[in-house]
This record gives sequence, C-alpha cells and structure tokens, in this order.
Amino acid sequence: MQAAEPLVLGIETSCDETGVALVRGRTLLADVTASSMDEHARYGGIIPEIASRAHVDSFVPTLDAALEAAQVTLDDVEAIAVTRGPGLIGSLSVGLAGAKALALSLGVPLYGVHHIVGHVMVDELVNGPFPERVVAMVVSGGHSSLMVVDQHDGVRILGETLDDAAGEAFDKVGRLLGLPYPGGPHVDKLAATGNREAFNFPRGLTAAKDCVRHAYNFSFSGLKTAVARLVESFEQRGEELPAADIAASFSYAVADVLVTKALNACREEGATTLVVGGGFSANSQLRELLRERGQQAGVSIRLSPIRYCTDNGAMIAALGSTVLRQGSEPSPLDIGADSALEIPAAS
Ligand code: KG4
Ligand code: ZN
Repeated sequence: MQAAEPLVLGIETSCDETGVALVRGRTLLADVTASSMDEHARYGGIIPEIASRAHVDSFVPTLDAALEAAQVTLDDVEAIAVTRGPGLIGSLSVGLAGAKALALSLGVPLYGVHHIVGHVMVDELVNGPFPERVVAMVVSGGHSSLMVVDQHDGVRILGETLDDAAGEAFDKVGRLLGLPYPGGPHVDKLAATGNREAFNFPRGLTAAKDCVRHAYNFSFSGLKTAVARLVESFEQRGEELPAADIAASFSYAVADVLVTKALNACREEGATTLVVGGGFSANSQLRELLRERGQQAGVSIRLSPIRYCTDNGAMIAALGSTVLRQGSEPSPLDIGADSALEIPAAS
C-alpha cells in the first residue's frame, strides 16, 4: 500500500551536486539540487576541495528547500538514505556526516547506499515498478556500468569501463574541440549539426577476440586518442577543423558501442527491458539509437527526463525506499564513506 510506506529523505553529495529529496514509496514529493559546477568550470575539471566546501554551504539550505517543497517537516521523516560511495571522499563525507546527525537526532534508521544503483532506481519514480528482471546501464562522467537487476537476486555487475567513462571521454573530446567544460552537452549540441558517417572511429572492445573476456566491458581511451590524432593532423595541415563532423562521428561511435553491448546483454540475460541512467544518458545520439535499436530487438527502453539522469537526491531517496521495502538492515552510525564502493552481490 503506497500510503503506508515510510517517508524517506535522500541525500546525495558524491560529486559537485548537493541533492536532497523526499520520497514516499515510489512517489517523489520533492527534489532540490544545488550545484557547484560554475565554480569548477574555470579550472576545466572538478576541484574536490571546492566541491566539499560547497556541500557544507548548501546542505542546510537544500534540505530546508526540499522539506518546504514537500510540505513536510523533519519530524515527518521516517528513514534517511545517503550516498556512501563511490565518489569524492570529501564530498561524500559531508553528506554522510549530515545524514548521521539527522538520523541520530530524529531517531530514524540510516541507510548508506550505492550511487550507481541510485541512478538505476530513480527510473521507478518516473516509469513505475521494474519487471522482475531488467538489464541496467549507468553512463556518467565517472562510470559506464552494465548490470542485471533481479527482484530476487539483487544487482549483478556484467561489465564496466576499463579506462575512461563515456561522459569523461566526451569532456576530453570537448577540450580537444575547444569547447567549454564540461564538454559533454556542448559536443552533443555540435554533433547534431554534423555527419556521423564522416569519420569511422574505433569501437573499443567490440572485436570478436575482445568479446571473449570483455563482452560487457567498455574502453573509450583508444577512441579519444583517435580523435586527438585526427585533430592534430588537421592542425598540422593548417586546415579548418570539421568540428561538427568529428563530434557527430565520435558521438555515434560511443553510442554504437553502448547500445550494442547493452542489447547483447538483454538477449543473453533474457531481459526484455533495458533501464538507462546517469548523466550521460542525456546524450541525444544515445537516446535516439537506444529507441531505434531497442525497437528492432524487441527490448523496451526505460529512460528518465534529463533532470533525473544527472546526480540528484531523488535517486538516493528512491533506492532508500527500495531497500526499506526489501526489509534490509539499516547501516550502523559509524558507517564510513567509500570512494571506490563496489556493488554488493545483492543490494
Ligand atoms: O551522472 P553525472 O551528472 O555525474 C557523474 O556522476 O559523473 O554525469 C555528468 C557527465 C559529464 O561528463 C557530462 O559531460 C556528461 O555527463 N553529459 C553529457 C550530456 N549531458 C551530460 N555527455 C554527452 N551529452 C550530453 N547531452
Ligand atoms: Zn552520478
């Protein structure tokens, strides 16, 4: 019964976004995010110390704004979920310290949860309960992960990136093309005006010999190097850079690999639903290719609106709600942040 489910406060501070949300069951009541991205942009990357300090400044105002938006008070909160990892250790520590203080003072259980699984579970707030078994792909600035999410067996990782994450590769190519940081959305916009067939960039770990061990792993560093070499060759010849065609061909190569491997995983794992989350799932070529090839393969694609793809508190509150529903034990109050937290066999 939806109404009987507890009110969960979700707190996300793993990178540069302070996210606070309130969820009851699978209903999102409020989701407020403060970002320190503007402070990092001039450095061309996230500065961990700046991110940690920004979380300290934003924590209470973001919490207050979320409570107000949901029209509840702290006394109404029945459980707290917080990102325990992976992420930046200083940033994670701020959220965890705040969550512990709240849990202790309110006398409610605390659940330290996994950021990447949160990117998957937020989909339930938008598209409803998952079928019994789905394949999920989380693609962001820090991760590219393929997993199976089974209602009985929990989460099992199928593959991950061996080097750059998809979003990270986009940010690096953005820099090569002279675009502002973070490059991902800028490369995406530029790609829309280019020809995706102009350059045939490598598709990492898709050759038959690689697929024996790395069927579901990704590698984008070779692709990024290929773009760097191409840019260099145009510069050496003093020719104008066909930036839009490079952006389009590069984006197509990334989307092609992600979609191919994700749909192969669906076939092999007997799943007819693919859930896609993480900041990079905002990418328009990826979304288009997922819809097109998903339909051909008879796999239904679950995507969320872009505001739920990037880091937010709703994903953590949604995962908190799930672990409560499953009757999981709360975390002890001395739980620590873990910058490289692995996905447990069952979570
Ligand atoms: O999930 P997220 O907000 O943070 C991490 O946990 O990493 O993902 C941010 C990443 C950045 O690398 C950003 O450039 C990329 O997602 N990104 C995009 C687009 N929107 C965000 N990359 C390509 N196309 C987009 N439209
Ligand atoms: Zn993320």
